Amino acid sequence: MSKKTLFVAIIPLLAISLSGCSSTSSPSLDDYVSELGYEDGFTILQWTDLHWSIETDREEEKRYLSAAFEAAKEASPSKRIDLLMITGDLALISSKSVLEDEFSFIRSLNVPFGVSWGNHDKQGTYSLSYLDSLASSGQSIYKNVDDDVHGRSNYVVNIMDGNTVKWQVFSLDSNSYEPSGALYSYDYIHDDQVEWFKEESKDVPSLCYFHIPLLEWGDSKNDTTGLKSKEKWEEYEKECPSPKRSKLFEEAKKSGVQGMFCGHDHSNDYVSTYEGIVLGYGVKTGKELYYAHSSTRDIDLIGGSLVILHDDSFELKHVYTQDADGYPSYTENY
Ligand SMILES: [Fe+2]
Repeated sequence: MSKKTLFVAIIPLLAISLSGCSSTSSPSLDDYVSELGYEDGFTILQWTDLHWSIETDREEEKRYLSAAFEAAKEASPSKRIDLLMITGDLALISSKSVLEDEFSFIRSLNVPFGVSWGNHDKQGTYSLSYLDSLASSGQSIYKNVDDDVHGRSNYVVNIMDGNTVKWQVFSLDSNSYEPSGALYSYDYIHDDQVEWFKEESKDVPSLCYFHIPLLEWGDSKNDTTGLKSKEKWEEYEKECPSPKRSKLFEEAKKSGVQGMFCGHDHSNDYVSTYEGIVLGYGVKTGKELYYAHSSTRDIDLIGGSLVILHDDSFELKHVYTQDADGYPSYTENY
């Protein structure tokens, strides 16, 4: 055996030996957590489905979002937004320059913000790690932990009263499309994500934010006692969840979840209490793509949604902002 042949023979042995004794460190539960300070009236603004694309008139959209943000602050008892949660589809087959502009605007609001990805965010002329870096910038509480769990936006914000966790606000990635690739068959929140949620949950009230509704949103139609919306549901669009039932709702019932909020179906803005949990569609934020007009109130159902935290309960308001010049806007209390 020549020296060269011996060297080639030793390398694989070394590789086997090294891989045999190495260990990959898995993340700890703390790696998913950010903390914000609690006070009564802590206000969370939900925006959803902004859908910025290369076709978007970005200056007009910024004027609109500024008006929607001011309207939300005005509707908040504290006149303050303490956390902005954006439940996906910030982008629609978009580009780096469009997203940089969008995140630059979000940062300019100067409030902590989080993002839960939608099915359209990952389509565009950029890498997923580029999305992570944008979403992590400024006062972001977004985290994509390097783990083996489905999705990129699974994290939690503990709202702290001193050293005590008062509320937990979860973001979960509802993923995009069903892996078989069937057109418009949406993905769901997988079992490993539910397992992570269960481990991360403390014995305190909590809220969940994600993009694609669970099948329970449709189920809630049969429980009309929980109806909290003015319109008849039938007037708008059929829900578009994954055909697969996630285990999240059943786990949430055991884990102190008081409310779950999604986007995805732009025309739907209904809110229902179903089996003890408030299920809410966020109000679509802006006029990109499609949205609904309420015939009974003669307004476009666009704007944002407010959750106002109290010690062990919350209030919910939908703040409808018509356009950049249409301020002041219309607020619905649930
Ligand atoms: Fe959308």
